[in-house]
Amino acid sequence: MLEKIKAVLEEIEAFDAKTLEEAEAFRVRMLAKKGLISALFNDFKTVDPAHRKAIGQQLNELKQTATEKIRTIKSRLEAEAGQGAEDKKQPDMSMPAVFDPVGSRHPLSIIRNKINTIFEKIGFVVSEGPEIEDDWHNFSALNFPEDHPARDMQDTFFVEKNPDIALRTHTSSVQVRVMETQKPPIRTISPGRVFRNEAISARAHCIFHQVEGLYIDEGVSFADMKQCLLYFAREMFGAGTEIRLRPSFFPFTEPSAEMDVSCSICGGPGCTVCKYSGWIEVLGCGMVDPNVLDNCHIDSRKYTGFAFGMGIERIAMIIYQIKDLRMFFENDLRFLRQFTSAM
Ligand code: DAH
Repeated sequence: MLEKIKAVLEEIEAFDAKTLEEAEAFRVRMLAKKGLISALFNDFKTVDPAHRKAIGQQLNELKQTATEKIRTIKSRLEAEAGQGAEDKKQPDMSMPAVFDPVGSRHPLSIIRNKINTIFEKIGFVVSEGPEIEDDWHNFSALNFPEDHPARDMQDTFFVEKNPDIALRTHTSSVQVRVMETQKPPIRTISPGRVFRNEAISARAHCIFHQVEGLYIDEGVSFADMKQCLLYFAREMFGAGTEIRLRPSFFPFTEPSAEMDVSCSICGGPGCTVCKYSGWIEVLGCGMVDPNVLDNCHIDSRKYTGFAFGMGIERIAMIIYQIKDLRMFFENDLRFLRQFTSAM
């Protein structure tokens, strides 16, 4: 009997468990009704009364040792498991980062920023004006005589009951505001939203965007304008780009011209973008009409200057080969996600 007790005691002392399941299995092996220690208690009934006291004491100690050992192991394993759960709540700093999608810039913003940057490099300063304009800044100061058919060129949204106030039809209105408040030399570009009462189609919209340019100083010539616009065209459409100026008419410039750039898509021989002409029209320009300078209190005998205006949608459509202008305004994420820019 003593031998058996000793053997079980040694097993208890040697025992350790890595999991709670192992510890429980050991408890069953030792202490359950059919376990080793219970069996020893059964055997105890047959022990000689002379040795009962000593053996009984050893048996009780054995049972206590087993109970104590299993309890200690179980509570240690439980603490470790709890600690594990605690560890999981802490962020694991060694994990690769998960980035939230950050969206992309609108193609019109990308092109506007690019135009701004190109002109800023040669000393132009960005200026802005209001989208709701009065007749003076949108038309009269720009040499549109009242009731002159030139006003029909642009289908204007007037504010109800006040024919003097309208949504600006072009960013040329900002020229006037700059000239009224600044003295030459003036070099400014004015990007902004404009409005015209036009039917919406693949080529036209009632809301679109323009960039206006203005350069006023002593002795500014048509040749200066040509060089400035050639620089712009090459920065915007590529180093090999050529420009072509065709005579045109605007009330606020004299002489006036329209500028074409050589087709950057086909490089000359003709394609659907340039309509097989090799040239794409990109902007209107001209020497600021002396009447406009005088209207803005700039001495037209001393100063000359040039101005130009272009549609941002038009430039973006050429650069990105977008065939339908309405896509810019639909906010379809599948369309917008295609554009990326650091600007
Ligand atoms: N304002 C004109 C338009 O909206 C564009 C334009 C043409 C602006 C010639 C200019 C210019 O400054 O010189 O169609």
